[in-house]
Amino acid sequence: MTTPILSLDHVDFAYRADRPVLQDVSLALAPGESVGLVGESGAGKTSLLRIALGLELPTAGRVTFEGQAVGSRRRAELRGFRRAVQPVYQDPFSSLDPRMRVGEAIAEPLRSLGIPGDGDARVAQLLADVGLPEDAASRYPDAFSGGQRQRIAIARALAPEPRLLLADEPVSALDTSVRMQVIELFQRLARERGIGMLLVSHDLTIVAALCARIAVLQGGRIVEEGPTAEVLRRPRHPYTARLLASVPRLPTREAAD
Ligand SMILES: Nc1ncnc2c1ncn2[C@@H]1O[C@H](COP(=O)(O)OP(=O)(O)OP(=O)(O)O)[C@@H](O)[C@H]1O
Ligand SMILES: [Mg+2]
Repeated sequence: MTTPILSLDHVDFAYRADRPVLQDVSLALAPGESVGLVGESGAGKTSLLRIALGLELPTAGRVTFEGQAVGSRRRAELRGFRRAVQPVYQDPFSSLDPRMRVGEAIAEPLRSLGIPGDGDARVAQLLADVGLPEDAASRYPDAFSGGQRQRIAIARALAPEPRLLLADEPVSALDTSVRMQVIELFQRLARERGIGMLLVSHDLTIVAALCARIAVLQGGRIVEEGPTAEVLRRPRHPYTARLLASVPRLPTREAAD
């Protein structure tokens, strides 16, 4: 088997010693693979992403990126990790600095990671990649809608040519119509560039659209994991069945009289 790009092995985590947040979590992503992480509010999804990003350290177990421990202080490894793994957040209003022009915001990770090349040309290409006009670079975030801002945030995440996106509810703050467009953008990035994704979402239809595999987190433990279609068709764990049953469905229209 190929080395996973990201692997959590028997990870425990707590913010406070008396309140475990993650317990014995094991999850591995192959290069280019997309995995959906679902579970109720408070299940530990964001905490798991923060651990995967190296922002929090597990209290037990191991997190590895291409076989190397995440959280390594070795500069070369750290830089390789920061290029390869990029976060995408839920709220495109708070994730962009309002005082920074869009072009600067997108070029910033290139500068901070010391990636050489023509910054302006790269920014223009990234804007085109996410479907925004080139002149967006000279404007400020407040000139853009939520959906456009999320595209800007995605362009910034793509700047260092990552191989894995860690996305926490990346479309839940967007209107339904815009949501579809951003989902299609993620689909295209996976198809054309082989970018993998660990996607946190409470929306199972979004996970079904983007992820071949799904992991279900309940109270800090992974209670079910498998191919998305299989898990959604035949959930084995009662919690997954409950989660499926709670997906809001639009009421079917009845004859008026
Ligand atoms: N910074 C923090 N300090 C202390 N406890 C925290 C912190 N962040 C989260 N928690 C606690 O850890 C648990 C898991 O939280 P987490 O944010 O990972 O859940 P989640 O699955 O992402 O929930 P949601 O769907 O609401 O975003 C919760 O009990 C939460 O209260
Ligand atoms: Mg969360």
